[in-house]
Amino acid sequence: MENLRRTHRLTELSEANIGETVTVMGWVQKNRNKGGIIFVDLRDISGILQIILEESVCGPESFQKGEKLRSEFVIAVRGTVFLRAGAVNENIKTGSIEVRADFIEILSEAETPPFPIEADSRTKEELRLRYRYLDLRRPDLQEKIILRSKITADIRSFLSRENFLEIETPILNKSTPEGARDYLVPSRVHPGSFYALPQSPQLFKQLLMCSGYDRYFQIAKCFRDEDLRADRQPEFTQIDLEMSFADVEDVLLINERLLKEVCKNAIGIELSLPLPRLRWKEAMERYGTDKPDTRFEMELVDVSALLKECEFAVFSNALESGGSVRGINAKGQAEMPRKKIDALVDFAKGYGAKGLAYLAIMPDGSYKSSFMKFMKESELTDLVNEMSGEAGDLLFFAADRNDLVFSVLGALRLKLAKQMELIDESKFNFLWITEFPLLEYNEEEERFVAVHHPFTMPMEEDLPLLDIGDLGKIRAKAYDIILNGTELGGGSVRIYQRDIQEKMFSVLGLSEETAQNRFGFLLDAFRYGVPPHAGLAYGLDRLVMLLAKAESIREVIAFPKIKDASCLLSNAPDFVDEKQLEELWIVVKEPD
Ligand code: AMO
Ligand code: AMP
Repeated sequence: MENLRRTHRLTELSEANIGETVTVMGWVQKNRNKGGIIFVDLRDISGILQIILEESVCGPESFQKGEKLRSEFVIAVRGTVFLRAGAVNENIKTGSIEVRADFIEILSEAETPPFPIEADSRTKEELRLRYRYLDLRRPDLQEKIILRSKITADIRSFLSRENFLEIETPILNKSTPEGARDYLVPSRVHPGSFYALPQSPQLFKQLLMCSGYDRYFQIAKCFRDEDLRADRQPEFTQIDLEMSFADVEDVLLINERLLKEVCKNAIGIELSLPLPRLRWKEAMERYGTDKPDTRFEMELVDVSALLKECEFAVFSNALESGGSVRGINAKGQAEMPRKKIDALVDFAKGYGAKGLAYLAIMPDGSYKSSFMKFMKESELTDLVNEMSGEAGDLLFFAADRNDLVFSVLGALRLKLAKQMELIDESKFNFLWITEFPLLEYNEEEERFVAVHHPFTMPMEEDLPLLDIGDLGKIRAKAYDIILNGTELGGGSVRIYQRDIQEKMFSVLGLSEETAQNRFGFLLDAFRYGVPPHAGLAYGLDRLVMLLAKAESIREVIAFPKIKDASCLLSNAPDFVDEKQLEELWIVVKEPD
């Protein structure tokens, strides 16, 4: 390497460089030896460039090296830029030029990789994750990792311009069980004591507000020991922010401007502000979920009022016990084969439904239905009208407790939209959900728990409900930002008044002692002058996933974990030496 210095990344070269002597380096994507001439497709992070080796130009020594080349060898090439002698390759940026080498050096040889390094790999993800360092060489994955870096840089730049300070908070913390299960780290110095890895920087960012840092942000690693899905990893990254002297409106407005800038810079789309907003209650009623995908319609319709008198026990029982009957209209699906309908019924049962009633309006206007024999003709007509049913439509109904009806129809709506190809994939539909419930009843624990977290402020007009104990009805100053049906981020205005915080702990069933034990340092800080404050955190991985149109957050994380939270590349988690355990005062029980 002594006499070699890279002058350009491969695709920095263009017709403007013709005639120049350059030195480039990279991996051999492909090489073809046509006797006296060797063609090499050289690859680096920027793309591909064609190299030509001819013995008459590069001399016998370099040519012999050229003959040894194989895929993934790392080489250096010095040569001159020419207009391509052969056909122009429209598929690559440097398709009209080539570099004729006068010297090459093999910097590193390579074994045959276990899968080809190419875009749109058909290799199983498991194998790719085992060799992630090779997988990361693939251009489509590189594109996503580059996009992630760009988005992160844009966010830093925006927030810094808006006077947010980037401040790091600790990773080794006290366990304050609230949401998911903690990851614990044993202490060597304090036998039997454990740190917890942060689920979010929540308490520390509130302390920073108490300390006067009135606008904080952090690109924060968070850890949650929960079941993994396509949009969940055990460690993930939040864009976490908090603002003093701020209420709901302040947080929403600045974040809308942030999202607008990021979308424009990262993927060149222009968001129009203000972003749409929907109250939680309306979101549930129209879409059956607090993270609606608004790229298509097919909204839920409450038909309970029509069915009070009906004789179909499934409907009337649900209504009598305080539930509801709601439907969705799958337009133009009346001819759906019975098998497919049955599959949807099973799908609904997977969400806890006892059944799923359907009514098809056939092209001739007659009905085919699983429940029409229990209904009067006039009831059916009213039902069809209420559902805006037309000839050719297929109506589905769920009758149950409200929360079940919502989750069943919310899921069915998405499933149908995919089947019916209703989703316009080119859309980026952002949506704020506001006025979440403050508390929800947890059947298992037989008590109310915080929907967001125990520091979330109730809406002022609902404060009296806290006093009279009508807990399920209290709305919170909490908000989520949704993109195309995925929760991108969430936050709230925080309680900063001692009396409200105490009431909150009391309704959550936390004694003063427990509260002091868990969050004492925050409560103490609030005794010395605390500004009103509010904040929000985005999942950075999810934001990049959606902007990159990736299927999973694993595609936008350099070294992700798989479903069982292990790393196929490094084999973590793994057993440790007895000596290490001893130092940590740990004795491992044999698993049953
Ligand atoms: P919350 O728990 O809603 O709020 O988290 C904020 C955002 O973090 C992302 N996220 C995840 N991403 C990947 N894998 C996970 N396991 C995972 N869990 C959460 C989501 C989510 O919207 N402290 C509060 C924020 C606040 O009130 O300011 C908090 O953590 O995109
Ligand atoms: P059954 O009389 O049990 O055969 O039910 C008649 C129809 O009602 C079937 O299509 C069932 O799938 C449907 N059904 C049963 N329970 C429910 C429910 N809770 N909500 C909606 N439809 C239901």
